[in-house]
Amino acid sequence: MVGLLDLVQKTMTTPHPLDRYLELVRPTLTRRSMRAEITHVRRSAVGSVTLTLKPARQWSGHVAGQYVQIGVVIDGVRHTRCYSPVNAEGRRDRHIELTVKAHPHGLVSNHLHENAIPGMVVDLEPAAGVFHLPEPRPERIVLISGGSGITPVLSMLRTLANEGYRGRILFLHYNRSPEWVPHRQELEAIAMQHGNVRIEFRYPETVRGRLDSGPSGAGERSGGAEGGKNRDFGGVNPPGANRRANQAERDAHFGYDELESLAPWFPSAQTYLCGPPGLMAAVRTVYEAEQLGDRLHSEEFTLTTAVVDPADAEGKVTFSGSGVVAENTGASLLEQAESAGLSPEYGCRMGICFSCTAVKRSGCTRNLRTGELDSDPDQPIQICINAPVGDVDLAL
Ligand SMILES: Cc1cc2nc3c(=O)[nH]c(=O)nc-3n(C[C@H](O)[C@H](O)[C@H](O)COP(=O)(O)OP(=O)(O)OC[C@H]3O[C@@H](n4cnc5c(N)ncnc54)[C@H](O)[C@@H]3O)c2cc1C
Ligand code: FES
Repeated sequence: MVGLLDLVQKTMTTPHPLDRYLELVRPTLTRRSMRAEITHVRRSAVGSVTLTLKPARQWSGHVAGQYVQIGVVIDGVRHTRCYSPVNAEGRRDRHIELTVKAHPHGLVSNHLHENAIPGMVVDLEPAAGVFHLPEPRPERIVLISGGSGITPVLSMLRTLANEGYRGRILFLHYNRSPEWVPHRQELEAIAMQHGNVRIEFRYPETVRGRLDSGPSGAGERSGGAEGGKNRDFGGVNPPGANRRANQAERDAHFGYDELESLAPWFPSAQTYLCGPPGLMAAVRTVYEAEQLGDRLHSEEFTLTTAVVDPADAEGKVTFSGSGVVAENTGASLLEQAESAGLSPEYGCRMGICFSCTAVKRSGCTRNLRTGELDSDPDQPIQICINAPVGDVDLAL
């Protein structure tokens, strides 16, 4: 079949690829690239939008925790970004649900937040990634997330709930305030229906704001729901509130005491973590101190690298395709290209999607994820995860 398609492609569809003709009939009908149509758009939480997508028939599903890449055309230019489906795996109608947080100045997330409507078509890559639940399921599971990092772990929770999982689950989520938590009501409903699931929300910024404005705010530190019983932490201001206020502020941030009080069984659980760098670092610190590093599994949405002092960086970066030369600052080649006024294509900015690949003509680069050095000339490199070491010439 593929051979026949190749023949049709080569002999009958010149000058354009077959997909360009098929998409005129229906945008999701393409043979080689996969598309998806947005069927529903929900803006139920502040700062994010949830899209339901109906993928073309090539879609083979996702495993809870994995991500997909979608391609969106903005002002005639296609941009690729990664998003982790929030729906349970194995959905009967084969639709996927993505919850996208609008980043300040973020191109694709704001575009989707403001412009996504039913009928819009996006490019879609098959699901990928090793951040997912194991088979057989562990007996106890801790799911920790912050902000938009809720998406992969929510998919895990929904999958476990659908499966009738009987083990213990703690779902601990950090956000700005209740209105910012996507799918909050559904999470509370899961806790009500499943006695083995404890769901806790923490709002460190709200606590800090209320503590700053006086002791009357000491109460509303967090909210939770466990096994059908809603717990209310809010509202009271008894004598000794200041002492408790300090305690509340500490508790709103992740720490050993917090985790131990919510799930004393956590050392025997498998833990899945996704969130902003600060939360990821705090959780890792606790697990490493407890020598539980092998039980902690994490997904990052952004690449966290050590900040390099430009004074420690040597040499020049030549973007020879553009005739631009800049002093090496030690940052990734992508960031240095952007600082020099160039607009190279990128997608994930962390070495996943390969959309930033450019040819290094000469010089030595350091891989920011692995620390490996590479001095081979005329090699394609991912400029989002490589930084120059001395003079580098990039065909960009
Ligand atoms: C595996 C994975 C799964 C993900 N899942 C989700 C998810 O489920 N939900 C979700 O909301 N997000 C998710 N993300 C994040 C998502 O892919 C995007 O990174 C996010 O939506 C921001 O994209 P954007 O186009 O809006 O922002 P961009 O325009 O790409 O900007 C993002 C950041 O890049 C930097 N930047 C951009 N342009 C420049 C420039 N010219 N100069 C210097 N710096 C610049 C800035 O720091 C900016 O804040 C995931 C990421 C990964 C890797
Ligand atoms: S932007 Fe995705 S690999 Fe570089």
